Amino acid sequence: MTRVLVVGTGIAGLTTALTLAGSAQVTVVTKAAATTSNTHRAQGGIAAVTSPEDDVAHHVADTLTAGAGWADRAAVEALCAEGPARIADLIEAGVLFDRGDDGAPARGLEAAHSRARVLHAGGDATGAAIAAGLLAAATRAGIEVREHVVVTELLLESGRVVGAELVDLTTGRRESHRWDAVVLATGGAGQLYPHTSNPSVATGDGVALAARAGVGLADLELYQFHPTTLALPGSFLVSEAVRGEGAVLRDVTGERFMLGVHPDAELAPRDVVARAVAGQMLTTGAPVTLDATALGEEFLRRRFPSIDAAVRAAGLDWSREPVPVTPAAHYWMGGVATDLWGRTTVPGLLAVGEVACTGVHGANRLASNSLLEGAVFGHRAARALLGDPAAGGPAGPQRADLVQVAALPDVPAAAVPDAPAGAPAFSRAALQELMWAHAGLIRDEPGLAHAEAVLTRWAREAGTASPAPAYRTGQPGAAQPGADRATLTSHEDANLLLLARLLTRAARARTTSLGAHFRSDAPESTTPSPELVLETH
Ligand code: SIN
Repeated sequence: MTRVLVVGTGIAGLTTALTLAGSAQVTVVTKAAATTSNTHRAQGGIAAVTSPEDDVAHHVADTLTAGAGWADRAAVEALCAEGPARIADLIEAGVLFDRGDDGAPARGLEAAHSRARVLHAGGDATGAAIAAGLLAAATRAGIEVREHVVVTELLLESGRVVGAELVDLTTGRRESHRWDAVVLATGGAGQLYPHTSNPSVATGDGVALAARAGVGLADLELYQFHPTTLALPGSFLVSEAVRGEGAVLRDVTGERFMLGVHPDAELAPRDVVARAVAGQMLTTGAPVTLDATALGEEFLRRRFPSIDAAVRAAGLDWSREPVPVTPAAHYWMGGVATDLWGRTTVPGLLAVGEVACTGVHGANRLASNSLLEGAVFGHRAARALLGDPAAGGPAGPQRADLVQVAALPDVPAAAVPDAPAGAPAFSRAALQELMWAHAGLIRDEPGLAHAEAVLTRWAREAGTASPAPAYRTGQPGAAQPGADRATLTSHEDANLLLLARLLTRAARARTTSLGAHFRSDAPESTTPSPELVLETH
């Protein structure tokens, strides 16, 4: 039987595992508790065509439009066409989607969707309901799920991934195992920034593992920022659906500034709203506020129970007063380049969900398409591993603009400018502030060059161009008492530093604006053309 390691317990990893169950021997690992995933946190719903008033062509068109001309049509068609079947699978797994008063599934009409197609569960707790349903299904299927186990390195032989090294964080024991295939489903890297809707585990580990193994990456400069998270520690997401229900954004004087920015005001495309909020904060130095007072206490509690509880736990009463909000890193469109079956440039390694870049989201992900992405492409990856003939044809991404870790400046190298005097020493917080200031929502060449110089300096001080995993020493099987939380943190920091360098390099290489990648020194978005893309290294 084929032996497969799945890394990650979000919707993408668990869908892959459940589809493989019974036909392959699957082990799922996660470096934290199984419920600590981006999926678990997802408040927005899951978009799919599930009513006669909707059709796949409209879902495709909406996704392509949001993607700013950069989405891969074939990936989008696969996503939208297979969405209904994957929703049926979720229901089969036990996920209870919300129903209207008439008992029919409640389908939300949300910004940038031309039809009502967004399903929710538990109001604003869709991700938690999906994660719980899939984990219960995995238990029923007898799938081995190992918590608190981190993958530190991919094992390569003759240009193929043949296994992985792991550390069991509860015992400190190092392990080295052979697998026929490894599927990365590790989610995003919101911890690159000080404000993020992602959980603390979102340190881009899968992209970093792949990068160090020389796997092709794509679209790393394309990071989506959500316009409204609470401007308080933890950056709790305040769903777009709150604005969809009528909440408005106000500047420091109480004015609705979005009216002067875009005809759709607060419901303008996500990147437009996020940049406008960031611009306000830069200009005034004060947070913007989200005013949901017109919606009423009872409605807010019933429609948005999780947000209501978080806002109130922070000591705020949003039914009576506007609450401070800030944009936050939300979703990485770029990542490990894959074909439409999760296959990467290296045989034996697959990637699904946010860690992957199929091109399905283009330069700007349509809201509520990410949970669907995990279900659709997790399922497809499993089918490819099981030998589905539909997955035939050349394996791996076919695009010509892949980037590898070799694209980074050598360290040390005379050509690398010294970081300006006063640059802080490396810390995760310093890295996050640097990325927020220069490689965040609004970018320009001087800022990106500064960021790259500082990051390269930090990498030089760390002693290597592509930071090695923190667990290189010792023999498999040997317990490492030091492999505790602090060691995991240094492993994650090394990953974040590598990814920050790759993202910044990619952002410098794309010299014009494209969707979520906004260059204030070339603000007009241009139609993507081949000369704008990174060269293959
Ligand atoms: C939201 O509810 O605003 C987030 C949904 C998403 O990003 O898909």
